[in-house]
Amino acid sequence: MNRIDHAQLEPIEKASLDELQALQLARMKRSLQHAYDNVPHYKLTFDDAGIHPDDLNSLADLGRFPLTTKLDLRDNYPFNMFAVPMSEVVRVHASSGTTGQPTVVGYTQNDIDMWADVCARSIRAAGGTRNDKVHIAYGYGLFTGGLGAHYGAERLGATVIPMSGGQTEKQVQLIRDFEPDIIMCTPSYLLNLADEFDRQGMDLAQSSLRVGIFGAEPWTDAMRTEIETRCGMDAVDIYGLSEVIGPGVASECVETKDGPHIWEDHFYPEIIDPSSGEVVENGAYGELVFTSLTKEALPIIRYRTRDLTRLLPGSARSMRRMDKITGRSDDMMIIRGVNVFPTQIEEQILKLEQCSPHYQIELFTEKRMDRMRVLVELAAEFNQLAEDQRSQVAAKLAHNIKSIIGVSSIIELRDVGGVARSQGKAVRIVDNRIR
Ligand code: DLL
Repeated sequence: MNRIDHAQLEPIEKASLDELQALQLARMKRSLQHAYDNVPHYKLTFDDAGIHPDDLNSLADLGRFPLTTKLDLRDNYPFNMFAVPMSEVVRVHASSGTTGQPTVVGYTQNDIDMWADVCARSIRAAGGTRNDKVHIAYGYGLFTGGLGAHYGAERLGATVIPMSGGQTEKQVQLIRDFEPDIIMCTPSYLLNLADEFDRQGMDLAQSSLRVGIFGAEPWTDAMRTEIETRCGMDAVDIYGLSEVIGPGVASECVETKDGPHIWEDHFYPEIIDPSSGEVVENGAYGELVFTSLTKEALPIIRYRTRDLTRLLPGSARSMRRMDKITGRSDDMMIIRGVNVFPTQIEEQILKLEQCSPHYQIELFTEKRMDRMRVLVELAAEFNQLAEDQRSQVAAKLAHNIKSIIGVSSIIELRDVGGVARSQGKAVRIVDNRIR
């Protein structure tokens, strides 16, 4: 179903590749120069690599510049990566990460405006208009999800319901009473909400919600099908990360649902081989790297996202798409030498009708060997499953995981509610291995 009014698109969304690339090159030159002139870290790393912003004559030349990592941001904690005086910085956000210092990011007023624009563009791509009410259940605060989505929805002219995360019962009441058209939250939290609707004797599929814009964590096409069928809405993917801006780096079009279009008039993507750091062939899988083209407070040059995917040509828009993130290079579990991503396990779980999408993976050590236990909740309609049938389902899942992914696992099927529910980003891996 195509609800997008193409007259509403920004001219750049309809630009030819030549126009887009000319804009990118001009902006890239400015961004490299801005970083070099104003952030000591970039001056140092560019000088060390013997490269200068003037050496950029084509977009491909970007590959000659040094890569930036999260560690670089941590080493410059909190504000040393900022390229403007603090008086120009109107907001900071921070991503907690799992260990150590948070990563701090800063925005000028122009940065906030650009961010609102790309988020508005993302909601429009999902089929949203100024006539819609948008229920935002991404967390507000230091996390970029809530405020990023909020400013985007306002920029579009929609009515914002700034619910934030948590208070699941209250969320259900507000969805029922305020009748929003669009919801923005993590896909795992949407499932939590769907369960709460069930618990209160209602059905999310019967609600006013028409579209869900889900991101902040990896999810599969199998999960999309699960959400769309169960919750009666179109489910589209929004991608982003704080270091690059927050949500709205890339977003999916509702009419094609074929991967997020990267808003590459602001964020220039490359894919590198994660081990060598070299740019891979067009269309090959690897690690996604971004260079900001217009950011002022925190220009980011060749930032290693750790997210693994590949670039695809444009479809509904001329800007390129990214494939679903298969995992993060640091989310990858190495189990007895086999590389495994939670999304691979998720795909196998969702192939079985008896299983729900609520799962968690536990790693532990037994006789000095890695072991994997997968906790999966039964789907509500199979909660009463007899013991012998449960064993059959568990055996089938273990078999599929072994034959398709190549690792042995212990499957623990739990009753509904038996796996910790997501309040935001789902925790998929609990690693208790002794090293
Ligand atoms: O998660 C920003 C965001 C908020 C995106 C709301 C979308 C919606 P961070 O906390 O910095 O920022 O985490 C960024 O989350 O590098 C990916 O690993 C993961 N991620 C974000 N969106 C997606 C997605 C926000 N659509 C990290 N699919 C990224 C898969 C995603 N992973």
